[in-house]
Amino acid sequence: MKTADSENIITGIETALVHLGRESAEITNSVNPPLVRASTTVFRTLSEFKNSYKGVVFESPRYGRSGTSTNFELQAAMARISNAETCIATSSGLSAIAAVISAHASQGSHILVQRNVYGPTKALCDNSLNMIGSRVEYFDNAVDLETMINEATTLIFIEVPASLTMDMIDVRAVCLTAKKRNIPVACDGTWGTPVFFDAHALGVDISIHAATKYINGHSDLMMGLVTGSYDALASTRVWCDRFGSHASADACWLVLRGLRTLAVRMKQHHENAREVANFLCELPAIKKVMFPALPPDPGHSLWKSQFTGAPGPFTVELKNCNETSFELFINSLKLFGLGTSWGGFESLVMPAVPHHLRSLAVLPDEGRLVRLHIGLESPRDLCNDLERALAHL
Ligand SMILES: Cc1ncc(COP(=O)(O)O)c(C=O)c1O
Repeated sequence: MKTADSENIITGIETALVHLGRESAEITNSVNPPLVRASTTVFRTLSEFKNSYKGVVFESPRYGRSGTSTNFELQAAMARISNAETCIATSSGLSAIAAVISAHASQGSHILVQRNVYGPTKALCDNSLNMIGSRVEYFDNAVDLETMINEATTLIFIEVPASLTMDMIDVRAVCLTAKKRNIPVACDGTWGTPVFFDAHALGVDISIHAATKYINGHSDLMMGLVTGSYDALASTRVWCDRFGSHASADACWLVLRGLRTLAVRMKQHHENAREVANFLCELPAIKKVMFPALPPDPGHSLWKSQFTGAPGPFTVELKNCNETSFELFINSLKLFGLGTSWGGFESLVMPAVPHHLRSLAVLPDEGRLVRLHIGLESPRDLCNDLERALAHL
């Protein structure tokens, strides 16, 4: 079978997404690599068995937990696409985040985390790291960060854009500050994927993606992908191995399939999200659209300098909207599924409750937020659906 000479011919990410991660397809003369499920790897000789324990865990078959050829195909492809040396696939986006943070936490260590990160990331930092004796502090921007780093700091964790509020942090500035003190920066870049966001080129040491979202793109599995240099991922790799946090071969096979269409899906999500966001800006029921791709957004210039596209999701603030009309609005949407995820082909809506309001039994009428994930439907149909539902406000 003819395979692309990947080193020389592949220059664009679109080509890489189509051609990488298919080497084992040669064995079966098929377009797609075979799905190899295994708990047990068997070796022909004792020396082969012994050698398998010398290499890097997760890069050659050893035992089901370290992965099969299906896992290695995906990890190698993701590393190349991300301009990184290596990649670890884990069981979910959150497990990848937990592995990276926990691997850098120890008795007396200090971890700096961007204040408005994804809720479960914050819950992990607030409730679990103290059990190991690690202290977490939250920062808002690169300027604050400089003054908060101390001798015990072992990791800086950011997310761009921040969940729900869609705030943009200056990734380059964070990484420059961290480099001066030799502290690794981990970044949750799920929103942009490697198609729109080259985390390592901006200086990020450990890049994390919930492949559950756009990278897989079909709302039918959970996975986390972590990329970086061998050195940067060394402690995370050991942690994943010790705690058995690995992706299944089935999920890896499906994510490899998702990669093939990632670039075209991302471009379409970007176009659709911009059309719907611009439409919403003009509606009287809308107070604010929080979407860094729109010029009035406070994060717009940072978005332009760090991303090449904006797939959404984005958050919308509704004008004076009480509980009853809010419920009517959500329930009368026909094309938006009501669910917490995003990144799939279908549009989704979710009430977005900022952290400081989470304990309130009744939310204030003013400033109610919804998060919209704009899928691959016709944007005109989505705008009509939203306009009709917003008439209830
Ligand atoms: C920004 C971000 N990071 C990470 C995750 C976690 O991914 P998973 O749901 O695969 O655990 C999510 C999930 O919604 C997310 O929105």
